[in-house]
Amino acid sequence: MSGNPAPIPDPSLPSADDAHATSVVHQGRSVLLEIIGLSKRFPGTQALSNVDLRVRRGEIHALCGGNGSGKSTLIKILAGVQQGEPGGMIRVGDESSPADAVTPAFADSAGVRVVHQDLGLFPDLSVAENIALGSSFPRRRSGRIDWRRMRTNAEELIERFEIRASPKTLLRDLNRAIQTEVAIARALQGRESGHGGILILDEPTTALPAAEADALMRSLRRYAQAGQSILYVSHRLDEILRITDRVTVLRDGHLAGVHETADLDEDALTTAILGRSLAHEAAVKHVPVSSAGVPVLQITGLRAGPVRGVDLEVRRGEIVGIAGLLGSGRSTILRSIFGDLDREAGEIRVAGAVLPKGSQSAAISAGVAMVPEDRARDAAFLDLPVAANISASVIARYYAHLRMQDRKMTRDAASLMATFGVKAASPAVPINTLSGGNQQKAILARWLRRDPELLLLDEPTQGVDVGARAEIYRVVRDAADAGTAVLVVTSDVEELAAVVDRAVVLRGGRFVAEIAGSALLPQHLNELIYKDVPHVDSV
Ligand SMILES: Nc1ncnc2c1ncn2[C@@H]1O[C@H](COP(=O)(O)OP(=O)(O)OP(=O)(O)O)[C@@H](O)[C@H]1O
Ligand SMILES: [Mg+2]
Repeated sequence: MSGNPAPIPDPSLPSADDAHATSVVHQGRSVLLEIIGLSKRFPGTQALSNVDLRVRRGEIHALCGGNGSGKSTLIKILAGVQQGEPGGMIRVGDESSPADAVTPAFADSAGVRVVHQDLGLFPDLSVAENIALGSSFPRRRSGRIDWRRMRTNAEELIERFEIRASPKTLLRDLNRAIQTEVAIARALQGRESGHGGILILDEPTTALPAAEADALMRSLRRYAQAGQSILYVSHRLDEILRITDRVTVLRDGHLAGVHETADLDEDALTTAILGRSLAHEAAVKHVPVSSAGVPVLQITGLRAGPVRGVDLEVRRGEIVGIAGLLGSGRSTILRSIFGDLDREAGEIRVAGAVLPKGSQSAAISAGVAMVPEDRARDAAFLDLPVAANISASVIARYYAHLRMQDRKMTRDAASLMATFGVKAASPAVPINTLSGGNQQKAILARWLRRDPELLLLDEPTQGVDVGARAEIYRVVRDAADAGTAVLVVTSDVEELAAVVDRAVVLRGGRFVAEIAGSALLPQHLNELIYKDVPHVDSV
């Protein structure tokens, strides 16, 4: 353990000499993955500048940094799907390559296995086919694909990783958490025991609720104990503190520090990532809602999918959270309100008007806005510029004299990008060139700018870094203060407890508790979500 680089809280770049000095120290066999001097430039953005990274054998190593700091880019270069700039070097085990020459074939033979941030699954293929695509399709002696073996292989993995799906299920029919499990099983197949390769996970838990994320954490520890080296990217600081051995921090594409996890607590890690502490910043305050607040949303007797009859009222200026397990029907409630799902029964009123079943346009004209859970599928026009994406909710405003007012649209978008801290080279670049967290912020900007009567947020901070998270809830609170009613679903109970005025707990298709004020504590919420005892708190 001697010779660790001391924590480098200073964001300034280590000089090339320092980098090489450390490299010599670490050149023993104990370092499995070594990256030296990695740089990557995109038009308008220096995504990585002379970054070094070393992962030891059997270590879980966290790669941390704010949105757009270069984490996914580094991983894509390691996987050979993007090329680094000449001058950088990458070594995995005994195989090394110049950073500009890593190919998917090199990465594969060196044992690099990646679960990418967007999972990289094929929605129209089955679970078995998706898993088979991660290796090579099993073949018969005739050369034909051996479908039966493919299916048994998938069945084994489904059992081993406790995936709640059958081999035949199409990926698009699974929710995001189960899709994540499939992607992980695909990456890990054939490597249960210690292996020379490296497993890389880019924000695998963004869509996972606490229990599933916990199960994943436990299996990662198990793999590491068996000798598997893991590079782990997450914005969830508690996970990093719990399971990783060391942390490398990137800031704006530069190496900002390498730390022993044991030396860090949440505040120290936040400071390492942001370059400042959030400890002294006031949390978003709970606003005691006057009972005189006008009800904006009134739901009675809603039944849809797993939801078996719920009543709910959200008033002007109020932020209400729905807590519950994955699959408990939280998203179903939001989607029913937004007209994205047909409800079986129940009445939904927004600002007094009854919303017809399954009509998004009626919901939108009643002043409902929704940020859905699955950004890529539901909300973002991936090939279009950021400006167009941010303007999609109000596009009619820019249509005048029979033409689009592009300049005005771009100008407004640029100022919203500043408000929401969306980091991009310009409003004109396609949204799919933004980092994951920055795409999420752009989608939030799109819906919040409409001054909705009712704002529905489904996992709004997934993939958003610790600094921007607080920022987003400040913007949501501002919208509430201006009169919007907000209904939010998040699997992060800490976040829920910190930002909502009142939370309802959904279990078995019904609201089993409602809590507010001093009872609104993460631990209490968790008990209500997971415990099987009916429990109703008075507010
Ligand atoms: N294909 C691309 N074209 C142009 N710019 C890109 C492209 N891919 C990434 N970038 C830019 O490179 C920078 C780093 O992005 P990257 O996705 O690596 O960030 P990240 O650390 O993974 O962020 P997040 O936590 O939000 O996922 C960002 O400024 C991003 O906009
Ligand atoms: Mg990323």
